[in-house]
Amino acid sequence: MTLKAGVIGYPIKHSKSPVLHGHWLRRYGVDGTYERVELSPEAFADGVRDLVAKGWRGVNVTIPHKEAALELADSVTDRAALIGAANTLYFHSDGTIGADNTDGYGFIQNLRAGAPNWDPTAGPALVLGAGGASRAVVESLLEVGVPELRLTNRTKYRAELLADHFGAKVKVVEWHAQNDAVSGAMTIVNTTSLGMEGQGELKISLESAPAGALATDIVYTPLITPFLERAQARGLSIVDGLGMLLHQAVPGFEGWFGVTPVVDDDLRAAVLA
Ligand code: ATR
Repeated sequence: MTLKAGVIGYPIKHSKSPVLHGHWLRRYGVDGTYERVELSPEAFADGVRDLVAKGWRGVNVTIPHKEAALELADSVTDRAALIGAANTLYFHSDGTIGADNTDGYGFIQNLRAGAPNWDPTAGPALVLGAGGASRAVVESLLEVGVPELRLTNRTKYRAELLADHFGAKVKVVEWHAQNDAVSGAMTIVNTTSLGMEGQGELKISLESAPAGALATDIVYTPLITPFLERAQARGLSIVDGLGMLLHQAVPGFEGWFGVTPVVDDDLRAAVLA
């Protein structure tokens, strides 16, 4: 029987997930499909239940459904509960729905793959941005043991909300003081949309970054953002953001189709094409 999965969003036509899962389905010879499903927020819950009734294995969910997906689920992983959003749903044979959030997992796996010597416990992390993606990044960095997490956001209030939620290791830094927060930071992460094609640029100075620090960006259009370019010129290790997208997809594919897929250059090329 053909195993069915997909991605739900609104809009959904720009999602790269069908290319990525399609590549794996072909590579592993799985009798399965991965489709785009467009559902408005009003239609989301009924739409998901309809897919459950049709025997689908599960779905990815993206903007604007990640919080609603968490609400809808019968069981929720600890990390999804902490992040407050889900990106992967599993439809169990008894009709129940399990929710996970693999964004933080993908973020960390990407760093481990791209910078094998990276040690999150070596010193403080600096995270720029306090939006949806930041929640997953912050949760995962705390989980792998960063001793301190400096969080800065243009709208300070959003950073304070995250600090309240994630506890005392998170220290809010004023947006205009971001250059000072670079000092001693061993892991520097951009989670804002700055640096994306057509957006403004991240102005942060990396002059005081310690030797051995790692810089990474969740923006991957362009693959090497101006921030990563400057980090590289400064002698820091850099990891681009595409791998986060690729790695976050692994647990879903494994759960729905029963094969643990590999993230490699072929997959990157397929998604970039
Ligand atoms: P995502 O889910 O991708 O994180 P989001 O929740 O809309 O998207 O968050 C976007 C992030 O980029 C926020 O941290 C936002 O800062 P604000 O909370 O102040 O809006 C940040 N961002 C977007 N445009 C920005 C800009 N021009 N200058 C500084 N930060 C910006």
